[in-house]
Amino acid sequence: MLYFDKDHRIHTLESREMVQWKLDLSNADYSQAVAGIGVERTQILSDGESFFLLPKESLKTSKLSEIPQAELEEIQSFFFSQEAVQAALSVNSDLLKSQDKGSLTYGTTGAKSIYEALRRVGASTDDSFLDIGCGCGLPVLIASKLVGQARGVDIVPSMVEFGQKAATRFGRENTEFLLANIRHLELGRVDIVYVAATTLTEELRETIKEKLSQLRPGAVVITLTYSFQSDALVLVDTFKSPFAWWGSSEPSVHDFLIHIRRAS
Ligand SMILES: C[S@@+](CC[C@H](N)C(=O)[O-])C[C@H]1O[C@@H](n2cnc3c(N)ncnc32)[C@H](O)[C@@H]1O
Repeated sequence: MLYFDKDHRIHTLESREMVQWKLDLSNADYSQAVAGIGVERTQILSDGESFFLLPKESLKTSKLSEIPQAELEEIQSFFFSQEAVQAALSVNSDLLKSQDKGSLTYGTTGAKSIYEALRRVGASTDDSFLDIGCGCGLPVLIASKLVGQARGVDIVPSMVEFGQKAATRFGRENTEFLLANIRHLELGRVDIVYVAATTLTEELRETIKEKLSQLRPGAVVITLTYSFQSDALVLVDTFKSPFAWWGSSEPSVHDFLIHIRRAS
């Protein structure tokens, strides 16, 4: 995926590097302008300030690794085991009292859903991934198969421990699970952020939005249910996919929203 900013500099989201040349878009003939850069079958989105060039059929890139269906299912069933449910439900009462109860309600993104999101943004081994509020860690485990470094952060100790156990079980050495409150989190350098925001309070979502504005241009932010569109982030893609709540037999379909950190 490529996009260009308001100064018409081009960015590629495959390498997350900016390339040196500029396009003359003064006549607004975008298709002519992009013809010279070898990007075929593109669609152009614009929010009036930035321009985004997306391949028409999918955002899949040639560098993307495939995860076999059987592997997705094996990881998914590990995270739906009794042990995972136990870890998810073991929230200490003091912690429950100190946080908004709803934000600790547990559910997990399906393996196929996060895989689909990561495919759409062309995740590759050049990328790092962070799940903010990672729960037991399913999205982190799936991401670790595609990216160079996958991290998750959660406030519930039993979930973080389960994530670490899962990383050992699946031999994922490029993963890290941190116990922390999102409010005190330093994002550092990260290329793809995931926030399953469905249960997070508005106050927590605003705090996260603020932190996301520190990401570098071209970084990708995938969210669930709520868009985090802001002066810093542009919404470029959405799709619907299942998310499962503990205690409910059927996963429900949720909106996945893909944003890109605008060039400043
Ligand atoms: C709905 S779960 C999503 C789990 C995971 N991201 C997934 O999609 O499978 C939301 C998670 O956010 C965590 N959370 C809520 N408030 C938090 C906070 N202040 N700091 C860190 N984690 C928090 C909860 O403990 C919970 O595990």
